[in-house]
Amino acid sequence: MQRAANTALHGCAQAGGPAVFSRCFICRVTASPWQSSRAYGVIPPPRDPEEKEMLHRILRVDHAGEYGANRIYAGQMAVLGRTRTGPLIQEMWDQEKKHLEKFNEILAENRVRPTALLPLWNIAGFVLGASTAVLGKEGAMACTVAVEESISEHYNSQIRALMEKDPERYIELLNIIKEFRDDEMDHHDTGLEHDAETLPGYWLLKNAIQLGCKAAIYVSQRI
Ligand SMILES: [Fe+2]
Ligand SMILES: [Fe+2]
Repeated sequence: MQRAANTALHGCAQAGGPAVFSRCFICRVTASPWQSSRAYGVIPPPRDPEEKEMLHRILRVDHAGEYGANRIYAGQMAVLGRTRTGPLIQEMWDQEKKHLEKFNEILAENRVRPTALLPLWNIAGFVLGASTAVLGKEGAMACTVAVEESISEHYNSQIRALMEKDPERYIELLNIIKEFRDDEMDHHDTGLEHDAETLPGYWLLKNAIQLGCKAAIYVSQRI
């Protein structure tokens, strides 16, 4: 009640007031990334070329990762879409579509160039998804476990780096990455719950895919 009165008085952005602060200094309400209340978008205007480079690298590689994930699920659906596993894959794909949409939006807002390798990830992602799905449900799930574990670890390392630098300054980007990281971990767990580990050669396949993910992450930050 008190907080409601306060928000009405000081025009907290959370109550529809002026969009200035992410975290209101009076009522301590923090805006969610989906209803950003900063004067700027998800990332702050870079202070110097170094910060700009750092943020652009983060956004470029995350966009590439979500793009690749979408292509993987598209490949899985092309093979298993009409089977009993179809709806499960579709559900994860739908979340990936939202992740990609968000990064598309952030890249456009901040004029961040996407990786030049998108055409490659387009094909490689689809082929990876489809070829593992040909091995059956377990193959698709093994691929999902491998990829989602890599993406979760990648997001975790970004979260650590941004937290070390300035958690307040990057709060909105951190919130988005954390939310997506949680979704990726759910996908990973879904893969395990649906027999990924029963695939013959599971560890070999998983390691090979994760090696590919590491290489993809490395080059997508730079090219
Ligand atoms: Fe994702
Ligand atoms: Fe995912």
